[in-house]
Parts: sequence; C-alpha cells; structure tokens
Amino acid sequence: MSSSTFPLLTIARLSAIFVASLVLIWARVFKTSFIPRSPSSNDTLIFAVLHPLLMVIGFIILSGEAILVHRWLPGSRNVKKTVHLGMQGVALGCGILGIWTKFHGEDGVVANFYSLHSWMGLVSISLFGIEWVMGFMSFWHRGEMRRVSRRMLPWHVFIGLYTYGLSVATAETGLLEKLTFMQTYRNVPRRGSESILVNGLGLGLAFLAGIVIFAALSPKHHQLSIRPLKPIYSNDKY
Ligand code: HEM
Repeated sequence: MSSSTFPLLTIARLSAIFVASLVLIWARVFKTSFIPRSPSSNDTLIFAVLHPLLMVIGFIILSGEAILVHRWLPGSRNVKKTVHLGMQGVALGCGILGIWTKFHGEDGVVANFYSLHSWMGLVSISLFGIEWVMGFMSFWHRGEMRRVSRRMLPWHVFIGLYTYGLSVATAETGLLEKLTFMQTYRNVPRRGSESILVNGLGLGLAFLAGIVIFAALSPKHHQLSIRPLKPIYSNDKY
C-alpha cells in the first residue's frame, strides 16, 4: 500500500463506520418506525428493519470495501481477485436477501414494483449479479476467456463503479421514501432527531460513495492532485 493512498482508505473506512453506525442506531433506537402500520400487513418488524441494514451494510459498504481490495490487500493478483470475488459474492447475497425481505405482499412480486426506488433496486441488483457471474466465469477459465476478460477489464471497472453509484442512489431514494412515509403517516417531525439522523445517513452515503470511487480511480503511486486521473487498470500491464 502506498503512503499516498493510505489517507484515502482511512477516510473511506471512517465514513463507512459512520454510515454503519447511523443505520444501526436508526434500527435500534427508532425501531417503532419500522412496525407495520396495519395489523393486516404482511410485513413484520424484523423484515422491515433488515431491509435497510442488509442493503446499506451488507450490500453497499461491503461492495465498496471489495472495490478497494486491490488498494489494500498485499499479495499476488490471484489472491486479490479471489478476495474481491468472494467479498462481492457476500455483498450480492446480502442484496438478494435484503430485497427478499420486502417480498411479502399478497398481490405477488410484480405488484410490489410500483416505486422508482424498487425499479432502480431491480436494475442495480441485476447489473451487480451479471457483473459477478462474468467475473466468476473469467476467474475459472483459462486461455481464450482470460484474454477476452483482460480486454474487457475497462468495461468491468466502468460497469462495476456505475452499479455501485446506482446502488447508492437507490438507497438514497429508499431513505427519502421511508422518511416521507414516516413524516406523512406517523407524525415524525421534519426537524426531529429521527429525520436528522436519516438525512445524515443519506449525506454520509453520498460522501462514502465519492471517496470509494475516487480511491478506486486515483493512480496508485501518485499524490492526490486535481490533474486528470490516469486509468488504474490498463491493458499494457499484462
Ligand atoms: C442498494 C440499496 C437498496 C436496494 C437495491 C433496494 C431495493 C429495493 C427493492 C427492489 C424494493 C421492492 C421490493 C418489493 O416491494 O417487493 C425495495 C422496497 C423498499 N425499500 Fe429498498 N433498497 C435499498 C435500500 C433501501 C434503504 C436504505 C431503505 C430505507 C429504509 C429502503 C426502503 C425501502 C422501502 C420503504 C421499500 C418498500 C416500498 C417500495 O417498494 O418502494 N430501501 N427496495
């Protein structure tokens, strides 16, 4: 790890800890906000709380850490790729489980997908899944497939970072949707502590995403500067 990237990784981790703490405090201290409004609802407290926890900590924070594996993990490229693939696999599992917690409507799966949040969520998890399967296949295949995957590396980086950004944007719409529900139907004050906490969580996520993407794109052995960034993954390495 170069000394110039060290502060960036530290800032990324500190913001991840900040975001994880806020979502945990929200789930613990304000758990009444997650109790279903009508007793006939199929949602339960545990499923309602698990959705933001799994999506923010398991899906977004873990996949951000996996994006930065090549920045902090010592060892061979194979070790880094295995850890990267493994962590992204766990993040994908958390994402699928987190979305599953919302599938409790009597009207079936399609009827649940009415909001921008749910549509963006579906696109994010699908792109993430496709990326992971492609990465998995290129990891196990040798020869021609390896060469093809090297040529596709810039696309892997672009689609990976795009999916990460889209997932963060999806979480922001989820937070906004939940906060609007709470302020409209549960009389949660607009300037109350819960609203401030959820707004802070949204800001923290936006900051974390910026740091993770910046750290992933910034050249490994250069000081941080405002000069145009050189791509970190270039084919001439191979
Ligand atoms: C990457 C992060 C996230 C993804 C990919 C995601 C994905 C989804 C999906 C696909 C649904 C629709 C499931 C269904 O209704 O059957 C959903 C529902 C919901 N999510 Fe999220 N979510 C994320 C984060 C969050 C966060 C942080 C919150 C904040 C509490 C949240 C709140 C909700 C709520 C209230 C619903 C039910 C209403 C609706 O369908 O829009 N989500 N989410």
